[in-house]
Amino acid sequence: MEKRTLGAGPGRGLLGAVGLAVAAALISCAGKQTPKDRITDPGQSLFNGQTLSGITCYKCHGDDATGTWRGPNLIKALPTLSDQDIAKTILEGPGLMPSYKGKLDDHQVAKITAWLRMRATTVANAQPR
Ligand code: HEC
Repeated sequence: MEKRTLGAGPGRGLLGAVGLAVAAALISCAGKQTPKDRITDPGQSLFNGQTLSGITCYKCHGDDATGTWRGPNLIKALPTLSDQDIAKTILEGPGLMPSYKGKLDDHQVAKITAWLRMRATTVANAQPR
């Protein structure tokens, strides 16, 4: 009878493949993008990478800014943040967030901020108190 040591043999390759598949699924489920024809606001367009291809906030914060495993829920955080806080965050890029200094001008930052505020207001009003 053939003896097999645990952890060796073809079983390992299969485990690796499953791990890769899980990782790929996780990455692909981060931040879906709002398609161009459903964009209603210039800030939303910027946030969703539809105005400038290098600006991809949606990838980490989700197309509706409610967050993914890569970035926090901005709608929830918004009431605690001033416009200056938001601008500073976008330009400096704290922690795992990239810096957008030189990639977004003040006008574009203001557009994104205005859209986030509008979304936060809509969400707050939709919730029963
Ligand atoms: C690579 C992923 C990633 C991208 C892309 C990204 N962010 Fe972030 N963002 C983060 C992470 C992670 C944090 C939390 C940072 C920390 O404090 O450690 C964060 C924090 C923030 C905060 C502050 C939230 C709070 O509670 O203080 C704002 C506002 C924000 N991001 C807006 C944006 C905007 C607007 C864009 C696009 C211009 C963007 N982010 C792109 C990952 C990302």
